[in-house]
Amino acid sequence: MISPSAGELWGEARGKVILVGEHAVVYGAPAIVLGVGTAARARVRPAPEARLRLGEREVALAAGAHRGKLPLGAPEEARAYAALLDALGAPDLHAEVTLALPAGVGLGASAALAVALARAVDAAARGGDEGRAARVLAAAQAWENVFHGNASGVDAAAAYHGGCSWFTRAGGVEPLVPARPLRVGVAVAGPAASTRRMVEGVAERRRHEPERIDTIVASITTLVHAARAALTRGDEPALGALMVDNQRLLSELGVSTPELERAVAMALDAGAFGAKLTGGGGGGAVVALLSDESEQRVLAAWRRAGLFCFAAMT
Ligand code: MEV
Repeated sequence: MISPSAGELWGEARGKVILVGEHAVVYGAPAIVLGVGTAARARVRPAPEARLRLGEREVALAAGAHRGKLPLGAPEEARAYAALLDALGAPDLHAEVTLALPAGVGLGASAALAVALARAVDAAARGGDEGRAARVLAAAQAWENVFHGNASGVDAAAAYHGGCSWFTRAGGVEPLVPARPLRVGVAVAGPAASTRRMVEGVAERRRHEPERIDTIVASITTLVHAARAALTRGDEPALGALMVDNQRLLSELGVSTPELERAVAMALDAGAFGAKLTGGGGGGAVVALLSDESEQRVLAAWRRAGLFCFAAMT
């Protein structure tokens, strides 16, 4: 845990759970995403050279090494930090970031880290209020592109805005107001997995079977629109059924695993309206849509299976 001291500037950001639409969102489909918890906190202060501390890991950039002068072969964190500083026109800063959610499990830790850091760096670069969201999101995206390759921006948007959002690559974020607060359960079912590799895997399959993958993306697009309608009329059973359809399509995209399928089945058996993997897949987390009655049963089933899990309301 990092604690504040005088002269420092701070930023924080939410974690995220994609309710429906991951992977398809990379190809232009909409996604519905929820901001959950505070996932990352960052603090920065002026320094003779830029330096970034992430938990136990620390990388240094020679003075002024961002501004397009970073050596080839520098560690990913150094390249990402340099890209973020450059995007905000920031001076050399010493930054420290801590995460409150597990990383690499589809809960948006990387984007939360980027948004928290970008918020703190933007304050240090005296960005001002006007245009802050666009600046911070562009800088976070510059960071995300180093780690995720073709990131859609959905994770960073949720990390910045929180709440419940409709997201498209072309249109960005639109706030959504569910008819009733949504109660979700999240369980980490598999090992950490690289979002970049999962996104590249889908792209590779699309190169070999464009029609099959594009048909799946089209089905997910239709389903996400139906999910929006269900959410705004407060029809949780319909929304849950659409999440189950989405899980089947994600499995056809090749991003599910036996562990994720098992955690989804446990949630459904324990009375969830619906459940699916969330995020990049290949491991990581599942999300279940819950009622007051099913919440404790679903969490208990996951806990009996030894899974880290929690509930959240949006
Ligand atoms: C990752 O949380 C969501 C993906 O759709 C990738 C992205 O949209 O950047 C798998």
